Amino acid sequence: MPKSSKQWLRRHVTDPYVRKAKEQGYRSRAAFKLLQIDEKEKLLRPGLTVVDLGAAPGGWSQVAAQKVKPGGRVVAVDVLDIAPISGVTVLKADFREESLIAALKGAPADVVLSDLSPNLSGIANVDQARWLELSVGALELCGKALKPDGVFVVKAFQGEAFERLMAGLKERFGKVKIVKPTASRGESNEIYVVARGFCALRKRRNMTLSPSSSSKELNP
Ligand SMILES: C[S@@+](CC[C@H](N)C(=O)[O-])C[C@H]1O[C@@H](n2cnc3c(N)ncnc32)[C@H](O)[C@@H]1O
Repeated sequence: MPKSSKQWLRRHVTDPYVRKAKEQGYRSRAAFKLLQIDEKEKLLRPGLTVVDLGAAPGGWSQVAAQKVKPGGRVVAVDVLDIAPISGVTVLKADFREESLIAALKGAPADVVLSDLSPNLSGIANVDQARWLELSVGALELCGKALKPDGVFVVKAFQGEAFERLMAGLKERFGKVKIVKPTASRGESNEIYVVARGFCALRKRRNMTLSPSSSSKELNP
């Protein structure tokens, strides 16, 4: 087994959040990241509609479904299978496909969550570009799927592309805040951004996807 896989396995076996997830019936340790973000930011409450992008295996959707009960609903999408979760509409699709918008049935979400992660190549520039493309896609989706004044939570990776995402978020949201839940491993450069006060009509601006690629209009 390669050294990196051994390190991952050792960390996984000794990770307290992996153990807690098993004990509490969550499908992933990631559930604790959303629990901690919500504990601090108070985003989820009964009656809300939540869209969960990149939801497999379903830890965030489990948390969201518990929090929006009664009266709320969760629409979860991933290219991978997600086993059924009570109170969650599960879609197997790319989040940019029309099926997600169709599943909302004309009622936009109060909260869009994005824990989307690309397949990582290990090459920093390539991974940053892949991650930015997903994040920009998620931000564009807010234009179609998020209510005015809604909240967007997006996973981000610190690096060159991060400032570009932040600029796009600040164009469209009244308040943008970076959070690092303790369940997010300390050594990883992963952080989350909580953006509140969505305004689809804010001024648009160009955003470069990667240092070498052409620019792409963010087009909600
Ligand atoms: C870190 S995992 C999400 C974990 C999840 N939040 C949980 O709590 O169980 C990231 C997910 O993003 C998904 N993903 C990546 N690109 C996607 C795309 N274009 N459309 C939908 N899902 C995508 C991956 O398949 C993966 O399951």
